[in-house]
Amino acid sequence: MSQPTVLNENIKQHYTQSDLAASILAALERAGKNVERLTLADLAPVDEFHVRGGEATLELARAAGLRADMHVLDVGSGIGGPSRRIAREFGCRVTGIDLTDEYCRTATVLADRVGLSDLVTYRQGDALDLPFPGATFDLIWTQHASMNIPDKSTLYREMFRVLKPGGSVAIYDILAGPAGPVHFPVPWAHGPETSFLLGPDELRQVLEAAGFEIVIWRDSTEAAVAWFTALSGKIQQGGLPPVGIHLLLGDDFPAMARNQVRNLKEGRIVLVQVVAEK
Ligand SMILES: C[S@@+](CC[C@H](N)C(=O)[O-])C[C@H]1O[C@@H](n2cnc3c(N)ncnc32)[C@H](O)[C@@H]1O
Repeated sequence: MSQPTVLNENIKQHYTQSDLAASILAALERAGKNVERLTLADLAPVDEFHVRGGEATLELARAAGLRADMHVLDVGSGIGGPSRRIAREFGCRVTGIDLTDEYCRTATVLADRVGLSDLVTYRQGDALDLPFPGATFDLIWTQHASMNIPDKSTLYREMFRVLKPGGSVAIYDILAGPAGPVHFPVPWAHGPETSFLLGPDELRQVLEAAGFEIVIWRDSTEAAVAWFTALSGKIQQGGLPPVGIHLLLGDDFPAMARNQVRNLKEGRIVLVQVVAEK
């Protein structure tokens, strides 16, 4: 069952920027890129919408044992940076699903500009009601999307359902730290109405209750602190770069980046990479 409409509308509103593909392409053009034939490196500052960008995507992909013969479902695929990176690097086919219509449209445009339309496709939908038959995918992939979803039990049960037996789920997520509630705004939410973080023990429990066996569990909080501190410092000194995540999040991005550093340093959030098998 999908999430309540009001919640989904609030989440979409948080992420939606009108004419996003056009504004990303215009920013890339201003930065001197050939927008008719873009590279993954051109897009990397804006299209990997999670802590530590492409580096974290490749780490997770290697941990999950991605292969060219796999069909991957990316749940909460955003504007598609991770799906394009793993498709290009490993040759796998990726279907992305995301709640935010504007992100799905943008992801499709960008896939075309980097010549990956044969391997990646995007469709709008709710992670709690995946529009696929059971046992469709070899791997379920999800990075930094569960924070917007309160019903984690349905989320991971849906992933389990559409995964083939013997397949894995690869997760890279922000979890609740031991030190209490986060400082808002953060990149995934302006306030607590759209932010739902589990602690590490709760995530383990909900994955196991959905039927998964956890095979890899890595805390990557320390690397996240270093990455966000450097990013926030760069913005404070030199202002926003021509192409960056602020194109997705608007004027509040510098405050969000500052809050992420505080949330990480004060132990209000932690990051994990998890691989679990069906
Ligand atoms: C921080 S972005 C991460 C995007 C992408 N995974 C990445 O790492 O680049 C979170 C994404 O989750 C999506 N999302 C949130 N709730 C969702 C839901 N219930 N179903 C599908 N997508 C959802 C949002 O629309 C947004 O694109």
